[in-house]
Amino acid sequence: MSTNQTPSVIPSEDRKKVTVHSIQAMKTRHEVISMLTAYDYPTALVMDQVGLDIILVGDSLGMVVLGYESTLPVTMDEMIHHCKAVARGAKYALLVGDMPFMSYQVSTAEAVRNAGRFLQEGGRNAIKLEGGRDRAETIQAIVNAGIPVMGHLGLTPQSVHQLGGFRPQGRSAETAYRLIEDAQILQEAGCFSLVLESIPARLAKLVSKCLEIPTIGIGAGAGCDGQVLVTHDLLGIFERFTPRFVKKYADLAGEMRRAFSEFKTDIKANTFPDAEHSIEMSDIEWHFLEERLKISNPSLLIRERVDS
Ligand code: KIV
Repeated sequence: MSTNQTPSVIPSEDRKKVTVHSIQAMKTRHEVISMLTAYDYPTALVMDQVGLDIILVGDSLGMVVLGYESTLPVTMDEMIHHCKAVARGAKYALLVGDMPFMSYQVSTAEAVRNAGRFLQEGGRNAIKLEGGRDRAETIQAIVNAGIPVMGHLGLTPQSVHQLGGFRPQGRSAETAYRLIEDAQILQEAGCFSLVLESIPARLAKLVSKCLEIPTIGIGAGAGCDGQVLVTHDLLGIFERFTPRFVKKYADLAGEMRRAFSEFKTDIKANTFPDAEHSIEMSDIEWHFLEERLKISNPSLLIRERVDS
């Protein structure tokens, strides 16, 4: 865990909305792109205050927020619900929405319609989807509909059963070569950027060098054009498992346990709420109330005196 000083909030007059074009320009001037996942309004608000470039509502939502075993059960409606909350909090970051399992695999028409929902209902500026050459036609159709697409190669969690678990990809010459080809195909299909997840650092660096579009790495070393982490991993909220490539910047689960158990201790001991956290009425109003009760409900007054 790191202990940095308090970060400054970037004044809104100094901020411009991040677009797919500004993301591309960052690659050109070798400025590393920052991206994190968010699923709710307060987190998006803080991310926007510190000036993150991209906020992704990832389908990791299913595991780190909704408690599913994998990302597979996540639905379009769940994604849209969380996208709307994030859009209310973030005004400047580029907002990307992750297309959930089975929202783009069945037919191209369905994929375009679902991608459109992310922009129309979810307040997104772009969508992300997983897969290589098999998705090229779908990506082209979505881009042709005017929707920017971020690709995702390497460990693609929606294919967890096909991949045999959440394990690194592209470690053999053959699979690495195929990944390079896939990356080029996705660029040609019109992707504006590409997530590279859990692949060897030198492979990610090579892919980043040979593509014109920016790569965003997660478990792919420092040679990518940008970096992303799942926020609940970074904050130490999700404790079920932590991939080796995650750096924990906080222990919020520990902090939550401390706060919840302190609350419980306080209320059991009657030390909360105290006067500072209570609301009172003036003595005169209280007197008027007593006078009224004396006439209408005197037994209530007697009970109140006995209890206090
Ligand atoms: O769903 C997600 O959070 C993602 C990131 C790991 C890039 O796809």
